[in-house]
Amino acid sequence: MTAREWLQTTAAAFQRAGLAEGEGAAAEAGLLLEAVLGEPRLQVMAGGARRTLSEAEEAALGRLAARRLSREPLQFILGRWAFLDLTLEVGPGVLIPRPETEDWVDRLLGSPLVERFGADPALVFADLGTGTGAIGLTLARRWPRSRGILVDISAAALEFTRRNLARHPAEADRLAMVRGDLCGCLRTGAFDLVVGNLPYIDPVDLPGLEPEVRDHEPRVALDGGPGGVDLIRRVLAEVGRVVRPGGLVALEHGHGQRAVLQRLPAPDLALRAAFDDAAGRERCLVWERRPS
Ligand SMILES: C[S@@+](CC[C@H](N)C(=O)[O-])C[C@H]1O[C@@H](n2cnc3c(N)ncnc32)[C@H](O)[C@@H]1O
Repeated sequence: MTAREWLQTTAAAFQRAGLAEGEGAAAEAGLLLEAVLGEPRLQVMAGGARRTLSEAEEAALGRLAARRLSREPLQFILGRWAFLDLTLEVGPGVLIPRPETEDWVDRLLGSPLVERFGADPALVFADLGTGTGAIGLTLARRWPRSRGILVDISAAALEFTRRNLARHPAEADRLAMVRGDLCGCLRTGAFDLVVGNLPYIDPVDLPGLEPEVRDHEPRVALDGGPGGVDLIRRVLAEVGRVVRPGGLVALEHGHGQRAVLQRLPAPDLALRAAFDDAAGRERCLVWERRPS
């Protein structure tokens, strides 16, 4: 079988199984092919598509396609995934970074609220519920003089944080990882910026999620407690203590939660901005710590 035939057959199988539509199914098959052949996809598509696969390659590709057809996330099969300009290790035990998180992080970094910190500020930040470390690593890369604390309650998630810091030594030098519960381990008044993508799915909605998410991503990364907003409620109640006056708090949330979150008690904080994601869905709220 040629690489092209494998691609066509597998993309069609992925489409029949409802994993992805047309181009999405072909892209998924292409990424598996790239992983096994060890060649960039464009190269495979250009010249290599006519080449005949070896028996070993066909067997390896068959195993990966079967895993994907059993609804294992493509990202876990590949073992890595992109977040903005980072490539991060992912796998069972950690949430796969999402494009909607890229959207608000990008918007936050381009917003006047953050630009007033200056071009190269020596900020101190915390990333609550860091998972792969996606957001914290992005901030550390953007601000080469910044320092940050990456917090997660899950030891399994922090193992991925550790691996991703090892992949990014220039940023890792300025980052510390802590196993902890929200702001509990953070020093009073020490932070210019606290960001977080904490779980925000209502547990009643968990059974209806796609199998890739429901059966493979960790529940501790998804379940936001009653109404989905319990963890964010707890952060808002306590984060005013750790942010210095004028500092910012940016939290990702689910579509339809904005109105509820705006009404939650947030001592010493004033709401400053709301960002939607690229699909136009409510995604992030930003508060500023009031002067004491
Ligand atoms: C939705 S995932 C986000 C991961 C990563 N920040 C991202 O955007 O891809 C939520 C993360 O919060 C962590 N988490 C859940 N409850 C927590 C708590 N009480 N304190 C700290 N981290 C928590 C989970 O382990 C998980 O890694």
